[in-house]
Amino acid sequence: MPIPKAELHVHIEGTLEPELAFALARRNGLTPPHPDVDSLRRAYSFTDLQSFLDLYYALMDVLRTEADFTDLATAYLDRAAAQGVRHAEIFFDPQAHTGRGISLDTVVNGLTAALNTSEHTHNISTTLILCFLRDRPAAEALDTLHQARPHLEHISAVGLDSAEVGHPPEKFTEVFAAARDLGLRRVAHAGEEGPASYIWQALNLLGAERIDHGIRCLEDPDLVTHLAATQTPLTVCPLSNVRLRAVPDLAQHPLPALMEAGLLVTVNSDDPSYFGGYVHDNYQALHTHLGLGAEQLRQLARNSFTASFLTPQRKAQLIAEVDAHPHPW
Ligand code: ADE
Ligand code: ZN
Repeated sequence: MPIPKAELHVHIEGTLEPELAFALARRNGLTPPHPDVDSLRRAYSFTDLQSFLDLYYALMDVLRTEADFTDLATAYLDRAAAQGVRHAEIFFDPQAHTGRGISLDTVVNGLTAALNTSEHTHNISTTLILCFLRDRPAAEALDTLHQARPHLEHISAVGLDSAEVGHPPEKFTEVFAAARDLGLRRVAHAGEEGPASYIWQALNLLGAERIDHGIRCLEDPDLVTHLAATQTPLTVCPLSNVRLRAVPDLAQHPLPALMEAGLLVTVNSDDPSYFGGYVHDNYQALHTHLGLGAEQLRQLARNSFTASFLTPQRKAQLIAEVDAHPHPW
């Protein structure tokens, strides 16, 4: 079994495997998104974040019913368990569903039908992170937050995702303040394709407690110093960064530099069905392509729990499991 770890950056819609997409299309009487699974997989050659998002939003049209969302989450849990995941803080994109006429109740009820029993069925604790689409108006995000109020027992945090460049965090200052007032934690994608200044905005204007991706922080030495001093976690997604061409190849990935700078780095899968691997595959790739050794990978596994929203007691228990893990990683 792979080393125990938390997954803090996975979009549940990004775990939709082509086979499940075809099965759901059939079940819902929809025209399949492509002639066959292989031709769909061939469409997974992305040139940047937007080229991925175009397919990501198109394919999720097969998700229509509560059962579809339950099956999606169950399929993720099956794969995550096999990858050593013991705790998952899972992003979902409500506006990508409500915008096409699927109610927030359908989405959350469907997901939580799988997630509420995941400790028992998969030995994985879970929580949801509600992401706002940053390329949609802030007023729509605020409305989404209000619609989510009946479901807050399942949601620990809000996040910010979708097309980054041209959509700076400052646009969502009021929405994130409202989320804070509801008792929600806050995270934000920043510095994936966008500049280091977006990371500063996420920290200073949104109160982000974790930065999703954040790899472009290296362009601002003062920011690196700040992130190290505050031990603000970065949820880094190596395979994603290569597939979306945020970095040219794995051998040039900045993760080792981020660790050397003393940052609280974690490793995650982002949209694993699209990017060629689940979370442990990302750990393995860091060994194969960047030469990370057993102690570095173990530190990344410890960091994943440290950076989570678990209680201090639960973090300590799971970190002890990392330390007791009998294999190198
Ligand atoms: N939504 C799903 N995956 C994303 C990513 N890598 N960046 C921004 N938004 C996303
Ligand atoms: Zn992401």
